[in-house]
Amino acid sequence: MNITIATQSLDEVSADLLAVAVTSDNQADVLASLDKAFNGQLLSTMESDGFKAKSGTTANYPTFGKIAANKLVIVGLGSGDTIGISQAAGAAGKAARDAGAKTVGLAMGSLDAAGTQTAVVAFTAGNYKFDKYKTGDDTKAPSSELILLGAASETGITRGQAVAGGQNLARDLVNEPADEIYPESLADVARGLANDQLSVDVWDEVKIEAEGMGGIMGVGRGSDRKPRFIHMKYTPSGTPSRKIALVGKGVTFDSGGYSLKPSAGMQTMRCDMAGSAAVIGAMRAIRDLAPDVEVHGIVGAAENLVNGNAYKLGDILDMYSGKKVEIHNTDAEGRLVLADCLHFASQLGVDTIVDLATLTGAAVVALGDHYVAMFTKDGELRQALSDSADKAAENVWPMPLPEDYKSMLKAEWGDIKNVGGRAGGSITAALFLSEFVTVDSWCHLDIAGPAFLDKGHKHLAPGGTGSMVPTLAHWIAG
Ligand code: BES
Ligand code: MN
Ligand code: ZN
Repeated sequence: MNITIATQSLDEVSADLLAVAVTSDNQADVLASLDKAFNGQLLSTMESDGFKAKSGTTANYPTFGKIAANKLVIVGLGSGDTIGISQAAGAAGKAARDAGAKTVGLAMGSLDAAGTQTAVVAFTAGNYKFDKYKTGDDTKAPSSELILLGAASETGITRGQAVAGGQNLARDLVNEPADEIYPESLADVARGLANDQLSVDVWDEVKIEAEGMGGIMGVGRGSDRKPRFIHMKYTPSGTPSRKIALVGKGVTFDSGGYSLKPSAGMQTMRCDMAGSAAVIGAMRAIRDLAPDVEVHGIVGAAENLVNGNAYKLGDILDMYSGKKVEIHNTDAEGRLVLADCLHFASQLGVDTIVDLATLTGAAVVALGDHYVAMFTKDGELRQALSDSADKAAENVWPMPLPEDYKSMLKAEWGDIKNVGGRAGGSITAALFLSEFVTVDSWCHLDIAGPAFLDKGHKHLAPGGTGSMVPTLAHWIAG
């Protein structure tokens, strides 16, 4: 999408769609020129329609040739804070996609650099729809031209586009069928992002086995599409101020293995690589934002299927860290893949590790689709990620990591079982991961709810959301 800044009277903006964001306080002023063009009937019609400018609400009006734009949508800014800007720009992006508007004028008042970035990310997110496999002619093209009307920041546009590019990539990777995105093809996508500052190293199944990554191998060996281990590294041009590792669960399809999922639970399990999609998307954004931070992106990619070689209940996996894990449920596979990645990340000399995974249904039961479950004992990291999520208009919620719950993972034959019990399922999963982390500053983000929406939510279309790419970009690149 090409994005420019212009100052024009709103009635003169020529575009397929004109979107004007207002608060209840400023709408009379902002809409004055349009109201005049509509013979004083716009504001009165909005009032009789009950439009209250609540954030993300929209009111569509025909223009009857009275103004230069073909269509008009008024969007609510709420109180005009970050959430308001995000929801208003997101609603405008969605309205533009629904209308098939190629050129869009978006008036949001005066935007500083941060506000511009928020608006660009949200407009792009609202404009996104995964319809590449629809062959009918009822699909609407995405917008190609966005004109920000009023004061806005060029830097905010560039940075917003970097974040939006990473988030769109994550969404595409999640939405693609598992027949398209499998461990090898996922690794190819990561490889495709490489440049002078971003290196990408991929281990095939022979190397994974030889290195002793028994978790990734165990989960992946029941599929003809063999596992891959992906290590991306962004190196800043100067001395790094921080060193960070992002780790993602890349289960490209989760059938549950011999602890087979019922069909309904399996239907959307192509989304089980959303953690890795967030990592790959964030690495793309970071490459383009070029912060002075060393960032590793680590992905364990495997397909959890069943064949004559698949791992079984009662098997004992010999993990990369040397621990032996007793398998009580082959559907608790994500933690096995992540464990090897977390042990690898712990050897890199980084200050902080953050992992992202669609790890447990229990996280969805606890927090629903709109909150990421955040597990960390590092208070500073918890605060930093919460603040970044606020700036990115995403939701994270802190969860506990109680030591005494570890007793639920006690094994009879090996060192540790791969499942606790029904109680506290997302917590015991996080505690399992903690056994493979040896840096002090670590956070586990269970994105099972927000990563994939069965129904759309607000301006987000159904399917992959690119959850946490904006938050990670804020946290790492400011
Ligand atoms: N991939 C699932 C978790 C999941 C569920 C993600 C729903 C997105 C939506 C994970 O591998 C899984 O199957 N977890 C089990 C763990 C259980 C066997 C201890 C679960 O949550 O039921
Ligand atoms: Mn599973
Ligand atoms: Zn899974």
